Amino acid sequence: ASGHPTKYHDGTMVPKYSSTSTSTGTRTMLCRPGDGHTRACSHFQMGLRAAAAGALDQFGAASNYWHLGDSSYESLLSDHFTAVTPEIGCKWSDVQAAPGVFTFSECDRVLEAAEAAGQQFRGHTVMWASGDSGSAAHAWPAWLNDTLSAAELRDTLKTHVQTVVGRYAGRQAVYAWDVVNEALDESGSIGDSLWAKLGTGEGGERDFIDEAFHAARLASPETTLAYNDYNIASMTGWSAAKSQGCYDLVAERRARGVPIDAVGMQLHVDTEYNLVSGVQANMRRLGALGVEAHVTEIDVACAPLGQSCADVGGWTAAREEAQAQVYAAVLAACLDEPACTSFTTWGVTDAITWRRDERPLLFDEKLEPKLAVQAIRDTLAANRSWVDAYYARAEPAFKGADGGAALEGGEDSTLLIVLLAAGIPGATLLCVGAALAARHLLRRSEKVRLAKVPSTPSAREGL
Ligand code: XIL
Repeated sequence: ASGHPTKYHDGTMVPKYSSTSTSTGTRTMLCRPGDGHTRACSHFQMGLRAAAAGALDQFGAASNYWHLGDSSYESLLSDHFTAVTPEIGCKWSDVQAAPGVFTFSECDRVLEAAEAAGQQFRGHTVMWASGDSGSAAHAWPAWLNDTLSAAELRDTLKTHVQTVVGRYAGRQAVYAWDVVNEALDESGSIGDSLWAKLGTGEGGERDFIDEAFHAARLASPETTLAYNDYNIASMTGWSAAKSQGCYDLVAERRARGVPIDAVGMQLHVDTEYNLVSGVQANMRRLGALGVEAHVTEIDVACAPLGQSCADVGGWTAAREEAQAQVYAAVLAACLDEPACTSFTTWGVTDAITWRRDERPLLFDEKLEPKLAVQAIRDTLAANRSWVDAYYARAEPAFKGADGGAALEGGEDSTLLIVLLAAGIPGATLLCVGAALAARHLLRRSEKVRLAKVPSTPSAREGL
């Protein structure tokens, strides 16, 4: 299979995006031809929020407090996403711009809007370790500098973490906090920053990462605590070293009792991204550690970070399609790995994004859905054409990168998992989307693992 999928599961034709996208008032959806493009149809057919419910614990988007109140933006956010992450507003510079003075209004606003919309909320980010991400202004304020002694810095960090995480402890909507953001350099070592003053953890003293996670756990024992970074998603290719560093950081600390529950893979990538099987393998190895993998900030730009579409020959139909395929392939990897529970895009529309010239998101500048919306919807519903097309162009085959059993892709394999699980109570919901059902079952039973699925049709027949 390649390119745009042509049929829905029931055999009806998938409309081409350009001729069938519609706006119904402030809500923008895709509908099938013939169903009148009514609001009801839109919601029923295309709300990714409904499509994602049950498939993932969170299908989220980054959101900003200053766009809340814009009804078209809010509709898009609430129709399509089950969770939000504040793009800014909860970062150190936002909540403690001056020493000891905490201001939570921006962070609160995003959480309150999420609660009102029945959505979940990811706290982002308690602290930031590197100052070189181009986001230094949000990383930490100028007062937090080298003139603080090690003891003062340690106290300041603990107080900050406890105050921020503690403020939202017990709020049902809060499913996770990114506790430490971007601590690793590209070689996979902990990068140099002002936090080095707290030491390297040798001799039993806590380094800043240990300190931050312990303080967060103390402040909110129920919240999932994540380490979040970029270029750590794939354990193969150019991000192998940093991804290994991340794995080691988490494994070693967990062995010492540091409460790291999840790894956030930012995934600020582009349409050429070709390491998704390495991402999936990494999700699996993190799962084997007992750690959740969260896709926390995915955006798929037309060009690498720092370049614009114009630099790479403009925004073309082929790029939009490649973008849809990358989104679908990463989502499929996540859906296939029990460790991956959460998938968040870094924004909603190309009109509002830190990569404004690169058209990285699911909805265009006019808030119309792009092909990626269709690809995500299809992937949630287990039509894997987009995913197959991605692997056909980018990687040789959809194989377990650990050399284990290959899942051949397509509906056929997810159906098979459901059939294998047929002995399990509740395994009778084969109808809506086989992948959804399979995922439920995978979650509920250790007995059913992808690794147990024979990779060839003949071996399956013997089951
Ligand atoms: C970015 C926001 O998108 C920008 O609007 C802001 O100016 C700087 O921060 N990694 C992260 C995010 O963890 O917090 C960053 O967000 C993008 C990179």
